[in-house]
Amino acid sequence: MAQTDTATRGNWNSKLGFILAAAGSAVGLGNIWRFPTEAASNGGGAFLIIYLICCFLIGFPVMMAEISMGRKTGKNPVGAFKALSSNKFYPLIGMWGVLCGVMILSFYTVVAGWTVSYVLEEILFFAGNPEWATWIGNTGNGWLNAIFSVAFMSATVSIIMGGVSDGIERATKTLMPLLFVILIVLIGYVVMQPGSGKGLATYLRPDFSMVTPALIFDAMGQAFFSLSLGMGALITYGSYLSKKENVPQAAALVTTTDTIVAFLAGLLIIPTMYMAQAQGITIFNASGDLIAGPALIFQVLPSLFHELGGLWGAMLGITFFVLLSVAALTSTISLLEVPVSYAIDEFQIKRKKAAMYIGLGILAVSLVISFQTSLIGVLDTIFSQIGLPLGGILICLFLSYEWKVQNAFEELDTGNPGFSQSLVGKVWKVMVMIVCPIVILYNLLSPYL
Ligand code: PHE
Repeated sequence: MAQTDTATRGNWNSKLGFILAAAGSAVGLGNIWRFPTEAASNGGGAFLIIYLICCFLIGFPVMMAEISMGRKTGKNPVGAFKALSSNKFYPLIGMWGVLCGVMILSFYTVVAGWTVSYVLEEILFFAGNPEWATWIGNTGNGWLNAIFSVAFMSATVSIIMGGVSDGIERATKTLMPLLFVILIVLIGYVVMQPGSGKGLATYLRPDFSMVTPALIFDAMGQAFFSLSLGMGALITYGSYLSKKENVPQAAALVTTTDTIVAFLAGLLIIPTMYMAQAQGITIFNASGDLIAGPALIFQVLPSLFHELGGLWGAMLGITFFVLLSVAALTSTISLLEVPVSYAIDEFQIKRKKAAMYIGLGILAVSLVISFQTSLIGVLDTIFSQIGLPLGGILICLFLSYEWKVQNAFEELDTGNPGFSQSLVGKVWKVMVMIVCPIVILYNLLSPYL
């Protein structure tokens, strides 16, 4: 029975395939765009330290919880809760996850579309067409946003249609190494440029006076978003993982890869901002804070690339936006795979059809956002900043008190014999049962306390 399930649902061909796909899901706009600006405007090294604590102490245990639920049941997030409990209430947690994924994908697609439009913007600028470059690089143009969203969603849908190993695994095996190479080359160039040292200092020197409950709230939300946790993406990816594999080790590798990429992206973006300042470009807004969010990536950095000019400016600009597009694509495929696997498992819809129709449905929301970009911030707050940590708490509580840690241990011991008896195993138990739910809840409520 398990054999047929695996054969029809798909499976990773190798452990590396899973690691790269899960790391591809984790590494995205969250790392390259959101993390560096959060760090720069939130006390540099202090944010970095709190963020690392959130990733390893909270994110890593939740990731193990998700992967173990997925692998145990071989199901999508809703199906996994159904399989592990007869209580009808719990699959609602999975449904909340699917909803968060759908909504995150709807705005993520629009931002991902911008990254592609800026590849063209850079090409046009350096080809000597600044007017066309300005026209295409206008994130306020609803029609352009719509066109690029359609393009990005089409790419995502076509990969998902290919299935688990021939679609997702094949794509991420090419895209992830590419991403690493581009990132390293860009950092190598940037840290040797004038002005970048000041950026490095801002990034790495901790300013602990800036550590506030709001900062910890941000760091935790960022950790959940960046590690793709709390909505069942890793339940889904875990469901295609072979029983031979070592889940704690895989989760550790994915968490570490994602954190390294976020750290490296900080090494790239923050010095680049100060390099821009050295070129006379404004990097602080009216209230004296570093420019963050879309304005940083889509205004400050392009002005720097243009200012540098010549072959270097062109290469730097084009490669940077290709890097962002690649990172975004490996994340959008995981966001779409969640509702698609739900439709395949629970409603027996064929993969190609499910990918097509769900992709179209989400695209409809993206089109509204294309014309109303202020929705991005609102949706991000509800579905990522609050939605994902909330999902994380519910997953920990479900695993601990309904499915039971003992059963999760049985799954984790499969592929890693003796894990339940090890120190990491014992610590993990305390984390999922007590520490994670309390810390996440406290943090979610802290803005109101
Ligand atoms: N982790 C992705 C990023 O950092 C976003 C994401 C969130 C992907 C949730 C899947 C699930 O950009």
